[in-house]
Amino acid sequence: MERVYIFIGKGGVGKTTCSAAVALKLAQKGKTLIASLDPAHNLGDVYGVKLSGKPKEVSSNLHAVEVDVDELTKRYLTRTVNKIKGMYTYLKVLNLDKYIESLKYSPGIEEYSILESLIDLFSADYDYIILDMPPTGLTVKVLTLPHTTLLWIEKLAKLRKDILARRMTIESISGKKCVVIDGKKIELPVSEEEDPILKELNQKEEQMDFVKSILTGKKCSIILVMNPEALSLFEGERAIKTLRNFGMNVSKVIINKFVEDNEVTKKIIQIGPTLKIPLLEREPRGMDELIKVSQMVEI
Ligand SMILES: Nc1ncnc2c1ncn2[C@@H]1O[C@H](COP(=O)(O)OP(=O)(O)O)[C@@H](O)[C@H]1O
Ligand SMILES: [Mg+2]
Repeated sequence: MERVYIFIGKGGVGKTTCSAAVALKLAQKGKTLIASLDPAHNLGDVYGVKLSGKPKEVSSNLHAVEVDVDELTKRYLTRTVNKIKGMYTYLKVLNLDKYIESLKYSPGIEEYSILESLIDLFSADYDYIILDMPPTGLTVKVLTLPHTTLLWIEKLAKLRKDILARRMTIESISGKKCVVIDGKKIELPVSEEEDPILKELNQKEEQMDFVKSILTGKKCSIILVMNPEALSLFEGERAIKTLRNFGMNVSKVIINKFVEDNEVTKKIIQIGPTLKIPLLEREPRGMDELIKVSQMVEI
C-alpha cells in the first residue's frame, strides 16, 4: 500500500463527495479502493452506482465498497463468543449465545466492528486506500481505539501472567490441577506459552500495533473536510486536538462549499494547508460530475 487517505468531518460537510472525487483522481495513478465506513452509506448514491459489502469496480482502476457494519458486528460477536467458549470451557453453563443479541447494542461494539474492518482494508492489495468515515464523533472513537485497546491489553496480560504464576506455584506444591466439566477432565494451563488467553491477547496486541502504526505513520493522510461555517470549524478543531493527543495529525483541510472569504475561512486557513472546492450550483452526483470535482482537487 502506497498511502491511505482518511476523510473526516462533521455530518453533511461533503466527506463522501470529496473522497469520491479524490478516489477518481488517485485511480489515474494506481489501483485504488474507496471504502465507505459510515453506517449511513451514500457513496453509491454519489457515484450513481449500486454498491455492497464487496468491492466493485466503478471506474478504471477504482473499486468501491460500502462496508456492512451490521453484518460485521454480528460476525465479530459470534467469533468473540466462540473464542470465549473455547478458552473458558466452564463458561458453557452461562449460555453465552443468548447474550449475542443484547451484546449487539453494547457501547463500543460498533466502533470495534469498524476498527476490525480497518485491519482488513489496510491489508488489502491496493496502492491507494480511501476511507469515507462516519461523522466526527464516531470516527474519533474508532481512530483512538487502537491506543486505548493497547493499554487494556497491557493490563490484562499482566493480570493473566500473575494468575499463571500462582497456578504454577500451587502446582509445584500440590501437583497438577484439573477441573471436571460434563464428565471430562480438563487441565488448567500454567505456562505462558501454552495459555490460550495470553496467546489471544498477544494476537490482539499485534493487530492493534499494526493499525496504530498505519494511523500514526507516514503513509497516512487524514483529511478534514469543513464548510466555511463556525460549527464545522469548532467540531473540526476539537477533532484535530483529540487526534493529536493520540499521535495522529490532520495533513490537509478541504474547505468545501466555499463561497467567499469570510471570518471563518480566515480561521480555517490558519489551521494548515487548505484546498478550496466551491459551492456548486447542483449537488455533484454521478461519474461525470465527480470527475469535474476531481479536477478541482490537488491531493
Ligand atoms: N461542493 C459542493 N457543492 C454543492 N453541493 C455539495 C458540494 N459538496 C457536497 N455537496 C452536497 O452536500 C450534501 C452532503 O454531502 P456529502 O458528501 O454526502 O457529505 P458527508 O459525507 O460529509 O455527510 C450532498 O447533498 C452533496 O451533494
Ligand atoms: Mg457521507
